[in-house]
Amino acid sequence: MATNASLSDLARRIMSGGVSHELRYRVPHPIYIERATGAEKWDVEGKRYIDFKLGAASQLLGNSCPEVMEAVAQQLTKTPYTGDCHPLEIEWADWIHRLVPSAEMVRFTCSGTESTMLALRVARAYSRKDKVLRIDGHFHGWHDMLLKGSKPGVNSPPSLGVPQAVTDLTIVTPPSLDTIRAQLEADPEIGSIFVEASGANYGSVPLPDGFLPGIRALADEVEKVLIFDEVITGFRWSPGGRQARDGVVPDLTTMAKVVTGGLPGGAIAGRAHIMALLDPARPVDGFTPAVSHKGTFNAAPIVAEGAIAAMKLLASGEVQAKADAMATSLRNGINAAFKRRGMAALAYGDSSTCHLYFGGTSIEGLSAAQIRTVPPALVQGLRDGLLDRGVDLMSFTSCVTSNTHTPDLIDEAVDIFDSVLGDLIDTGVIIA
Ligand SMILES: Cc1ncc(COP(=O)(O)O)c(C=O)c1O
Repeated sequence: MATNASLSDLARRIMSGGVSHELRYRVPHPIYIERATGAEKWDVEGKRYIDFKLGAASQLLGNSCPEVMEAVAQQLTKTPYTGDCHPLEIEWADWIHRLVPSAEMVRFTCSGTESTMLALRVARAYSRKDKVLRIDGHFHGWHDMLLKGSKPGVNSPPSLGVPQAVTDLTIVTPPSLDTIRAQLEADPEIGSIFVEASGANYGSVPLPDGFLPGIRALADEVEKVLIFDEVITGFRWSPGGRQARDGVVPDLTTMAKVVTGGLPGGAIAGRAHIMALLDPARPVDGFTPAVSHKGTFNAAPIVAEGAIAAMKLLASGEVQAKADAMATSLRNGINAAFKRRGMAALAYGDSSTCHLYFGGTSIEGLSAAQIRTVPPALVQGLRDGLLDRGVDLMSFTSCVTSNTHTPDLIDEAVDIFDSVLGDLIDTGVIIA
């Protein structure tokens, strides 16, 4: 029988690092998941996990949502994909148009990274300015343009291979409206502003109060293109994302994960006159279309059919309310465990997230680097202990929930968190 260890040995011989995503790498080896339903998943050894990773936050409806699976299966009897226009992409775009306030027009992509890449190209074409301002620690995918600043407190890309000439066009700022105003005034070549709508890493570093309306007003005043990255918050924070919940409408929005019903793909959306730059019927300065965008698998019918099924479930807000309630219970349960054990630590988060901070009982006023710099032994000890007892986290020390988590599963997970905390205290990894 294949084991997690034996599969990892095999993978390392033919796949770089044995993985397809650097965050799936794990010492001594990753777990190899065979099947998943709702809030649970099972590895090749038959071990079951309560899932707070949920497809990197894409499975808001729970793993293998029956309605989405059925829609995909139906579409497979017709065609997964031909590379043509098809009616389903219009129906899918219409759902986005109706739910997301900024979505006057929509264009589909293949991933969140592609969405942020495309939105930036459109913003540059519209503003005719090459530089982009982005917030410290916010994550916008792995492409060259927005990699600098993704590691909190580090004003350079966390990777070799990113040209300095590209890096020079990306300006990193803390989420301070005063600082941003000063930076925009000092550098007239900045044309666009990118913001992860939750604050860095789905809200592990929340935005200061009033930041979103403030940046909207500032962008209007100084005429910059404002882009909200709603790859995680889209359809999760509310059916229309963070922008609908908070009533702040960006010029462009990037989406992936939940917008596809948890299938591979993504989208950008925005104001009609900006999105018109993608329209081949409207050439600009001899460019037809003004902004080039291709992509073999954009809006593949097999994804579109699943996404439409998901949109029907997501539109009322009930799914989000249930997932939020489960995250609230998880946060409350973990905070109670911290208190019982006399630990100065905090479980916090917005919407259906739960982040853990081990440096005190408040994150008020802390920078992204202060919040996100967790001792590696603690991250590793927590993740290993939880996996060992059958709980999987999203990343670092964060969780997301779905509408398929139940109070019983949350209670079970809280007990497991508690026992892992006990082990970490006993072994001196955490000083209580
Ligand atoms: C806010 C945000 N933007 C962009 C991305 C990149 O999306 P993808 O992994 O689909 O390329 C992610 C991925 O987690 C994300 O969290």
